[in-house]
Amino acid sequence: MSDVISREEALTKRLPKPEELNAMTQESLAAAFAGESQAAEKYLVWAEQAEAEGYPNVGKLFRAISFAETRHARNHLRVMGGINSTAENLLAAFDGESFEVDEMYPAYHEIAKLQGNHQASRSINYALKAEADHKVQYTDAREAVLAGKDIEDVQVNVCLACGHTIIGDAPDKCPYCGAGKDLYRTF
Ligand SMILES: [Fe+2]
Ligand SMILES: [Fe+2]
Repeated sequence: MSDVISREEALTKRLPKPEELNAMTQESLAAAFAGESQAAEKYLVWAEQAEAEGYPNVGKLFRAISFAETRHARNHLRVMGGINSTAENLLAAFDGESFEVDEMYPAYHEIAKLQGNHQASRSINYALKAEADHKVQYTDAREAVLAGKDIEDVQVNVCLACGHTIIGDAPDKCPYCGAGKDLYRTF
């Protein structure tokens, strides 16, 4: 066998270009960022579960490892170029919320309804409603930042049950899930 590759091989075999390798790396980082973010959230929920079952030290372990996963997620996000100026971040946040409100959650909601899964339908509907508010809140914030200003120094309240997010005081009753004022977390 000759070391010289055939003309056919030369035409069909080629090495990936550097930018293609980079595209694969970008995909890997995006997948890893998604996985680490999910793990971090799951571990926090499982920490609460461990604590409720009377295992505070297992809870602590879950919390610590959740924190470690957030560090991985942040590192991946930074390398992916996902941390930019606040005006740019607000636009990216708006785009993400818009996709969820305009396409993703409406489609998911239809699927859940068609399949008769009422719990899923409710969980999706809570998210859909809150994301619509987030979209507006990010738009207003971006307008302020583009004008060189911060947004107003007022409370932001979030319903612990459904994620309803309101800039200003918490309502007596959540408009989306009916939870009381005491179920809001203030930021
Ligand atoms: Fe959102
Ligand atoms: Fe709520």
